[in-house]
Amino acid sequence: MRLFIDTGSVAEVEEIAAWGVLSGATTNPSLLAKEEGDPGDAIKRICELVDGDVSAEVVSRDVDSMVAEGRALRTLHENVIVKVPFSAAGLEATRILVSEGHKVNMTLVFSATQALLTAEAGASYISCFMGRLDDISINSADVVREIVETLRGGRDGFYTAQVLAASMRHPEHVVTAARLGCEVATVPGKVLKQMLNHPLTSAGIDKFEADWKSRPEFAQWLQGLVQAQTTHA
Ligand code: E4P
Repeated sequence: MRLFIDTGSVAEVEEIAAWGVLSGATTNPSLLAKEEGDPGDAIKRICELVDGDVSAEVVSRDVDSMVAEGRALRTLHENVIVKVPFSAAGLEATRILVSEGHKVNMTLVFSATQALLTAEAGASYISCFMGRLDDISINSADVVREIVETLRGGRDGFYTAQVLAASMRHPEHVVTAARLGCEVATVPGKVLKQMLNHPLTSAGIDKFEADWKSRPEFAQWLQGLVQAQTTHA
């Protein structure tokens, strides 16, 4: 499973892209509305930082305006893909945009029936929101499992749409999405940082450092090795 970052914050992408684990990004109107500055500049900068698909969302509800916004968002950067909220109009707009060669991420998908319609409309990504399902006491893992099984079931290979797990509220959502076969999870910076942590890792690093420091001559030896390598480079 590939990891995208779910954010409107350029600073957050700058920090986390440096880890080398991101394959793309998703924004949405709510995330961008939290940030200062021009949203187009933010989307372009995120595209420069993340070498992969970056979703930018349309906000209109009628087909013609969705298509017009989608075409316009695509001019921001070649990696922009159009995020379209699920609805009958959204499906129609998706079909039009896809027929023109634009990639679409259909968002706000909460059931296998919606996922099937989305795949048939030609979307590249189907965004299923796990956290928002759990918020209303619907088991998000059950829904994601049903979506993955429906699309990859009897006619495996027939649908090329990728299941993108979204609304990740904690690291366990990310692991669940991977175990269930989602192709992508889009994860907020806060949750990506939580994924770094394990008490045994920090304790282990502290112990290695303390043991090494107990032999000062070893520290000198390593420093010399680094210097020699730098001189030869
Ligand atoms: C997906 O692309 C959305 O931006 C996002 O995951 C929504 O998450 P939320 O439910 O935490 O707002």
